[in-house]
Amino acid sequence: MAKKNVRDLELKGKKVLIRVDFNVPMKDGVITNDNRIVAALPTIKYILEQGGRVVAFSHLGKVKTEEDKLTKSLKPVAERLAELLGQDVTFVAETRGEALEAAVNALNDSEIMLFENTRFEKGETKNDPELGKYWASLGDVFVNDAFGTAHRAHASNKGIASHLGAAAGFLMQKEIDFIGGVVEAPERPLVAILGGAKVSDKIGVINNLIEKADKILIGGGMMFTFMKAQGKEIGKSLLEEDKVELAKELMDKAAAKGVELILPVDALVSKEFSNEAPFTTVSVDAIPADEMGLDVGAETVKLFASKLEGAKTVVWNGPMGVFEMSNFAGGTIGVCESIANLENATTIIGGGDSAAAAIQLGFAEKFTHISTGGGASLEYLEGKVLPGIESIDNK
Ligand code: 3PG
Repeated sequence: MAKKNVRDLELKGKKVLIRVDFNVPMKDGVITNDNRIVAALPTIKYILEQGGRVVAFSHLGKVKTEEDKLTKSLKPVAERLAELLGQDVTFVAETRGEALEAAVNALNDSEIMLFENTRFEKGETKNDPELGKYWASLGDVFVNDAFGTAHRAHASNKGIASHLGAAAGFLMQKEIDFIGGVVEAPERPLVAILGGAKVSDKIGVINNLIEKADKILIGGGMMFTFMKAQGKEIGKSLLEEDKVELAKELMDKAAAKGVELILPVDALVSKEFSNEAPFTTVSVDAIPADEMGLDVGAETVKLFASKLEGAKTVVWNGPMGVFEMSNFAGGTIGVCESIANLENATTIIGGGDSAAAAIQLGFAEKFTHISTGGGASLEYLEGKVLPGIESIDNK
């Protein structure tokens, strides 16, 4: 069922509450990556253009103690947002009370304010009904554009929506169309490329995608647990001993469903987990007992590229190797390039490290969609119902 979105709302002169995900990385009070702020701009600009009075809010990090509050203020985000919008953003260092209410009431049409980190309120993460009701009372309509937080049932998304209803912002809509599209009605063939260190982090995604995909290509640290399940010797490579049986089951399930599950054919191996240690490329059938695999090799990149040919939809989640170390970034770069160069395919990155890698490598423009979610995209790909999406009204 299609969701209501911001275009369906009457905005002129309205106090428009907008939940964004401005949970951006910061170091010493300085934002180190503003992608999530940039991603929310289309919705914010649209509301301002329509004459709406924007009351924006977000969480930032995890707030467990009073001390956490010292480093988790959204003030630097308000400053960056003002720069990006080219207009003043009133920052209110409160999450409730008179000063906040006065600032909301002082807004004119096409003006914007941001209030303080929603997690400064203990009730936020518990979806405290009183808090959701209070925040809802500040506005006339509610727009949820915080896809990154859609897997949480918190007062600032689900809570507010239970009073005001909710419409999706453009970013949320895009995530529903693309990540939701993969799990609901992908154009075939659908090829999934899954990497990352641990099988345990990806069980749900692999399980769900076996039901949907035509091919699943597996790289990253988790490939070694699959290889162990095939009876290969993996030396000192990362192994989740307690997941070997499960890896076997996933391979059997894929075979039974006629889904090609493809593992790497070569790997870069080293005696140490270090970018300084010497390394070589070996076949996955010849990993030395005293070495560990840290990336997929060039033959694997070629194999994966050939398996991607003709794909109509590609979804990628998780790096192919320890890409933070330059010697072991080649597999991730190679796969990223192969996907980016596909023609006639909808190409989607399911958030997290692979999204960061693609953006860092300068491929951002070449993908159809790069998700802003981490946990949210994973849970969406696992086929779960996300409370932040479920609480948006249907059209
Ligand atoms: C994220 O970064 O994945 C989202 O902002 C959600 O943050 P959380 O994991 O702290 O709820």
